[in-house]
Amino acid sequence: MSGRTSLTIVLAAGEGTRMRSSMPKVLHQVAGQSLLAHVLGAAPHGDGSALAVVVGPDHQKVADEATRARPDAATFIQRERLGTAHAVLAAKEAIARGADDILIAFGDTPLISAETFARLRAPLQAGAALAVLGFRAKDPTGYGRLLVDGDQLVAIREHADATPGEREVDLCNAGVMAFDGKTALKVIESIGKANSKGEYYLTDAVEVVRAMGLQATVIETSEDEVRGINTKAQLAEAEAIMQARLRQAALDAGVTIVAPETVFLSADTTFGSDVTLEHYVVIGPGVSIADGAVIHAFSHLVQAAIGKNASIGPYARLRPGTSVGEGARIGNFVETKAAILEAGVKVNHLTYIGDTHIGAGANIGAGTITCNYDGFNKHKTVIGAGAFVGSNSSLVAPVKIGAGAYIGSGSVITREVPEDALVFERSPVSVKEGWAKRFRDDRAAAKKAR
Ligand code: UD1
Ligand code: MG
Repeated sequence: MSGRTSLTIVLAAGEGTRMRSSMPKVLHQVAGQSLLAHVLGAAPHGDGSALAVVVGPDHQKVADEATRARPDAATFIQRERLGTAHAVLAAKEAIARGADDILIAFGDTPLISAETFARLRAPLQAGAALAVLGFRAKDPTGYGRLLVDGDQLVAIREHADATPGEREVDLCNAGVMAFDGKTALKVIESIGKANSKGEYYLTDAVEVVRAMGLQATVIETSEDEVRGINTKAQLAEAEAIMQARLRQAALDAGVTIVAPETVFLSADTTFGSDVTLEHYVVIGPGVSIADGAVIHAFSHLVQAAIGKNASIGPYARLRPGTSVGEGARIGNFVETKAAILEAGVKVNHLTYIGDTHIGAGANIGAGTITCNYDGFNKHKTVIGAGAFVGSNSSLVAPVKIGAGAYIGSGSVITREVPEDALVFERSPVSVKEGWAKRFRDDRAAAKKAR
């Protein structure tokens, strides 16, 4: 942005009562990320880009989320909810520090893009004191209407204060504004509260700017980009829009997605080249998938790193802390958690691997369970490279199995197995010849007697 500095102020002091939730509105998620984090992610980044988030009192969690998403964010508390202009002034200290462009955005519009912030700043460079983001609303009810004269923005009229004629206008205020830093504070501090709600409306900035003989203008964007979230239904709509975007971006980047409408991604999902996602794959936050990996149908991944050419699923569940090495295979009905699988490991069927490190090339048979929890604490299992764990074995952690060891199927391993050791640890089987027939005959007789 041609060297201009910026301060972005994100308003997030609202209660969000219409969400009918005990959680503050902006902490609800779209594509695995809070509404607030989406907005903060789109806001200008890097040198010369300051960020302030205005939160309500008792909203420590919102402040924490702001600094988690953007460690450079300063948070300010709006003690009383007296309107959007009043909320901006909670960050007065940051405004007073000065910036070329002062941007205002709402924490509940998660679909806004970085490009739109950049577009909105352009008129300031051309001399405008204020640029407002507008959109054509299918149903403008409730939005502030943008009243224009040629390329000039004359006023924003809140729905409640608009005349029937003004309500006909479909060009609406998205809530995102860019102020020239030289006049921003003076403009916002001049805003009064002479309106039907008795609130300090940020939208009145337009008339203040005009009265000062300065210019205000509109930059238009699509309605989808500025949808505000007030209800769970709107949250679900935003999710659908975001998923469509993420799928398109993945397809554009060369990911094969067999049935895109059935695949769900997170905003932070990363892909290498030639990755394939089969039907009904759900990818939660913190997942990276390297070159050539295939995620087969009906798999669910969260906080997992998938190595090159690995194969996952169908029906696999990879939980947080899973790392799958190059060429490794995780098959159907396998669950992993805090599990590091080195290159070439095979865990093909019906298995739970938790708090475990598996060395390269080890083979874990069907039905193997790492018994990681003793009812009080979690314990670790370490399986050496090239080990073979026979089907239906229980590995009772903490336990180590040496490299190259061979565990017979059905074993219950409760102590360390040395490298290259062979273990068959089963209860002796007693075989009683002919007893099955006697058992059946007895039951048949008992049934007859009833
Ligand atoms: C606002 C705009 C309206 C616009 C619409 C777009 C004003 C006066 N109106 O109306 O023109 O069409 O958004 O969605 O700006 N907030 C605070 N503190 C406050 C009041 C609000 O932090 O005291 C925050 C809210 O949490 C929210 C944002 O500001 O993130 C907007 O407030 P909201 O009450 O939703 O305004 P709208 O009535 O939707
Ligand atoms: Mg709103």
